[in-house]
Amino acid sequence: MAAAASDPTLRTSLERHLDQTRVQAQRLESLFLELDGAPGGHTCQAMRGLIAEGDAWLRQTAPAAVRDAGLIACAQRVEHYEISAYGTAAALAATLRLHHHAELLRFSEREEQDADLTLSAVATPVNRAAAQTTAV
Ligand SMILES: [Fe+2]
Repeated sequence: MAAAASDPTLRTSLERHLDQTRVQAQRLESLFLELDGAPGGHTCQAMRGLIAEGDAWLRQTAPAAVRDAGLIACAQRVEHYEISAYGTAAALAATLRLHHHAELLRFSEREEQDADLTLSAVATPVNRAAAQTTAV
């Protein structure tokens, strides 16, 4: 998604969050290892669908600003799903009195919320540019 972004601020935001996502994945792996579990045994079909939606959007031909606006919409759907997933996992960990794990999951949840807020801020000028591109 980052490579497909035309707006430099959007591209930078997506690249930064990709780096953050890699750290989150390492965090999840360490949580699984602490619980004697093995990460990676399940593919989330909902997330796979959201990614497929993004891929389908990127195959569309559209002016750069419109393409970026759609890219933000696709990315925010992913962030919202991640916020939900991390929030649920943190709540379950807290219920199981795995407070250290709950804290780490809440940290990832907050990172996702921040990524969503950043995308919303980037969306304002991008959406405005997209609207001007498509104005009749
Ligand atoms: Fe994310």
